[in-house]
Amino acid sequence: MIKIKTQIPGKKSARILDGLKKRNGGWAVPHPIVFSGVGNGSYFKDIDGNVFLDFASQIASNPLGYNHPALNELIRKYNESPVKYAGQDFCVPEHLELIEKLIGISPSGMDTAFLINSGAEAVENAIKIAMYNRKKKKFSVSVDGAFHGRTLGALSLHHSKPMQREGFILEPNKKLPFDDSAGDELKELIKRNGAEKIGFVILEHFQGEGGYRMPSMKMVKDLNKICRENGIPYIADEVQAGMGRTGKFWSFEHYGIKPDVFSSAKALQVGAVVANKKWFPPPGGISSTWGGGSRIDMALGIKTIEIIKKEKLLQKNRVNGEYLLKGLEKIGFENVRGRGLMCAFDLNSERERDNFIIECLKRGLVLLGAGEKSVRVIPPYVIGKKEIDEALSVMEKAYRVVSERGFKHKGKICDFMGCGRSGS
Ligand SMILES: Cc1ncc(COP(=O)(O)O)c(C=O)c1O
Repeated sequence: MIKIKTQIPGKKSARILDGLKKRNGGWAVPHPIVFSGVGNGSYFKDIDGNVFLDFASQIASNPLGYNHPALNELIRKYNESPVKYAGQDFCVPEHLELIEKLIGISPSGMDTAFLINSGAEAVENAIKIAMYNRKKKKFSVSVDGAFHGRTLGALSLHHSKPMQREGFILEPNKKLPFDDSAGDELKELIKRNGAEKIGFVILEHFQGEGGYRMPSMKMVKDLNKICRENGIPYIADEVQAGMGRTGKFWSFEHYGIKPDVFSSAKALQVGAVVANKKWFPPPGGISSTWGGGSRIDMALGIKTIEIIKKEKLLQKNRVNGEYLLKGLEKIGFENVRGRGLMCAFDLNSERERDNFIIECLKRGLVLLGAGEKSVRVIPPYVIGKKEIDEALSVMEKAYRVVSERGFKHKGKICDFMGCGRSGS
């Protein structure tokens, strides 16, 4: 159960946060709490002894929660150094096992995978694979609200928040609307430029950072069909929505389509690109020192897939997701939406949303923002009805408080505010 016994952040956490704010060049912390490593299921303790309920899952990267016994037992086996190898050049057994596991949960014909370090690098390599044979390519195509990572190639595809792109040199890209007219706009681009000028089309089949939006069936089917008919590579970015979060292993499966290439990371614990062998460039075309070499990360990825299957977590996520959505609707939130345990709703403004997330945090519930005024609700797959009820009760109370006229947060927490602007 949630147990908050200090102000948030507590004194010990505040000291670390002050230091990080001063010294961490990437500082954009949306939650002023510091983890202690103690935790169980979807609950964790901070270093001040407060117990929080996590409905953000480390931005969808912690699907099995805290201190899962099977994962802890696995970690204990890796008690000799190094645990990290230069995996593309010096092979370890976990590399093949994870690739095989990943292919085993991918659509037929997607028989080859490449492992890398992060989500952005997975997207970066998906881009390289898709574009490799496109000699006349001039630009890429992505959609309104897209978020694909912070490396420059992936960043070129962004249409979420302008501040993410500002100040950088980017690759040429064209944006499609995020609605049923996307297919017509793509046809127009083809008419004006020629299909061969388009390097690839990329889509999140449940948009993450840009607003937790689900593309319509028509939008996805049209884009996929037009790409097929015109020989344009179609990439699915599954970094946030993949690995079972939506109740299927991959969010594109909800649309009955198959991409040419897809990226994964976060819940998989390593970055990965999956496609048919024919898409991959010749040896040396793609690589990275540590890709496929972090033995613990790969072992955790393998075990995560095994546990999702063994404990029937896809089905469990669908059932718990429906229960969660009903509860959110009952509270009266607007635009409640979701698939499986990838859920969201809107508040009236960005300010109200940020205030709401902070109020929930003060009351021990961790949530994240997305888009302009959405709240994402993405608990670990290990939750049950008890945790959902507890989270809903906190949300209901916090909503009442922040809806009062003139509501404003006070105290140390205000030094670290920035909810929903983390951008990942
Ligand atoms: C859809 C999507 N693609 C790519 C990324 C980048 O992943 P990473 O932060 O691991 O580089 C993210 C991160 O949130 C994401 O949501």
